[in-house]
Amino acid sequence: MMKRYDILKGPDGSLVEAIMDGKEPEDFEKLEAKSADTSTEKHVPYVERVGNKYVVKVGKEQKHPMAEEHYIVFIELIVDGVVHRKYLSPGDEPEAEFEVPEGREVWVREYCNLHGLWENRL
Ligand SMILES: [Fe+2]
Repeated sequence: MMKRYDILKGPDGSLVEAIMDGKEPEDFEKLEAKSADTSTEKHVPYVERVGNKYVVKVGKEQKHPMAEEHYIVFIELIVDGVVHRKYLSPGDEPEAEFEVPEGREVWVREYCNLHGLWENRL
């Protein structure tokens, strides 16, 4: 079963996001978000409240690469059920800023084209 917010990967590498709970589309695999891998710490998205913005960076101490063959495809910030998504391209900084009011339930996630889905629930 897929649930709201789940991201599913197709056999051709395409991604879809679940809006409502239900049966997974055939051939699609639900991605399990990783949240703590000390050996590849640069994947866990890190969020900070700076003034009236949330600033999300991929890699706290070390930035994740943003090369043609290995990069962060998008960064998401979910605040009280509102999804904010920034799409990135190779050459961009692996970070995103979202000017939104401070929320009660805040979590972030990102997708690396090689290493999959990562999240950080505050
Ligand atoms: Fe990666």
